[in-house]
Amino acid sequence: MNDSNQPVPEKEVLSVFSGESGENPFPLFAKIRATGAVIPIPFPMGGTDQQTWMVTRMEEAMQVLKDHVRFTVDRRYINSNSNIEQNPTGDTGPSASTNFLTESINSIDEPDHRRLRTLVSKAFTPRYMESLRPRVQEIADELLDQVQEKGEMDLVRDYAYPLPINVICEMLGVPQADRSKIHAWSSAIAHGLGLGRQAPEVEEHLRAFGEYIVQLVNDKRRHPADDLISQLVAIEEEGDRLGEAELLSMIKLLIFAGHETTSNLVSTGTLMLLDQPDQLEKLKADLSLVPSAIEELLRFNGPSTIAGPRFATEDIELAGQQIKKGDMVILVLKSANRDERQFSDPEELDITRKINRHLAFGYGIHMCLGAPLARVEADIAFTTLLRRMPNLRLNVPRENVTWNFMLSSQGLASLPVAF
Ligand code: HEM
Repeated sequence: MNDSNQPVPEKEVLSVFSGESGENPFPLFAKIRATGAVIPIPFPMGGTDQQTWMVTRMEEAMQVLKDHVRFTVDRRYINSNSNIEQNPTGDTGPSASTNFLTESINSIDEPDHRRLRTLVSKAFTPRYMESLRPRVQEIADELLDQVQEKGEMDLVRDYAYPLPINVICEMLGVPQADRSKIHAWSSAIAHGLGLGRQAPEVEEHLRAFGEYIVQLVNDKRRHPADDLISQLVAIEEEGDRLGEAELLSMIKLLIFAGHETTSNLVSTGTLMLLDQPDQLEKLKADLSLVPSAIEELLRFNGPSTIAGPRFATEDIELAGQQIKKGDMVILVLKSANRDERQFSDPEELDITRKINRHLAFGYGIHMCLGAPLARVEADIAFTTLLRRMPNLRLNVPRENVTWNFMLSSQGLASLPVAF
């Protein structure tokens, strides 16, 4: 487990971010991880003298994620913690790609982060998530009712995708009729954004999505209902705790973060189980293992390849590397989750594994707000699927299963199954 001195060629390292490493980037991660915990990568950043680093191992990834003073998500803060530098490198760098979420909790640090997170956390307690179970169960059953007789479905289109989008839209109070628009916008945005890259057509989707949210918020102002947007609007109207731009970004983030990821957990997780029939059989024989299987699926091949980029606010040494103020640090969660220093047989899927910690939901102050919701949804999704369709099997040759590669995640384009 000593560091190997043989560097991995730059082109190969960059394939991690382009999707060229394919559906199984894990051998490449293992190779890169063996060369070190913190590795310089050749990445265009918009600035000239800043270096980009890739963190491959769990201990160092946690070190960065928990140190929100020296590693900020908000590159405007890199001059000093209190002195905001106005967009030092222009708007072409990586944070430009996520600008539509500027001022949302994932792109700001203390003290604003704490204020926003406290406001929205009230709606995301594990207890509230548990109270959603009956409704999530109903949605799961309704979706499977529609395909049960047919004996086959596209698990992505018919089940894994609509389940979380319906749940988050119901929580927020997005009308049923608008959900297909949300789907179209958010997948176009997710597929068109990359680190330092934005496909030209994304601008139009961002604008349309943004306008829709403004209109939705206005509707809720006029007709408050029993939903999260109405609650947030009420907080905004109380005065200084939630600004309008923050409110809009928060809603966009919740919609955006709240469904593709969970959908990918259910669909990729199902494929991982179909790939390893012994694990699938074990799970079907004892559905009480579903929660532990979910944690293992999150560790083994969770939806998020990387966390959002961090920027060093001062010069700092990490795993023997000299990171300079302003440098960008990319945490490869999928690699950390296969770290042989943390897990025995990390490349094996073992649904009974006792996991102390994985990084699939991140770590530190930005750790996923929606994790309790994702866990409830995934629990119901897997349990209902395997209970109702115990003969679940792939309906196309394995090599025909297709994927979408995005910068920060990777998910199935479709998963035809029979049952
Ligand atoms: C399996 C499903 C999910 C995965 C794997 C996932 C993953 C993540 C990760 C890795 C982060 C941290 C990013 C970073 O540190 O840069 C994060 C943050 C976040 N997630 Fe999730 N997520 C999931 C589901 C959800 C859901 C269902 C919601 C909301 C309904 C949600 C809302 C958020 C929010 C608001 C943040 C930002 C938190 C903050 O900055 O304080 N996520 N998620």
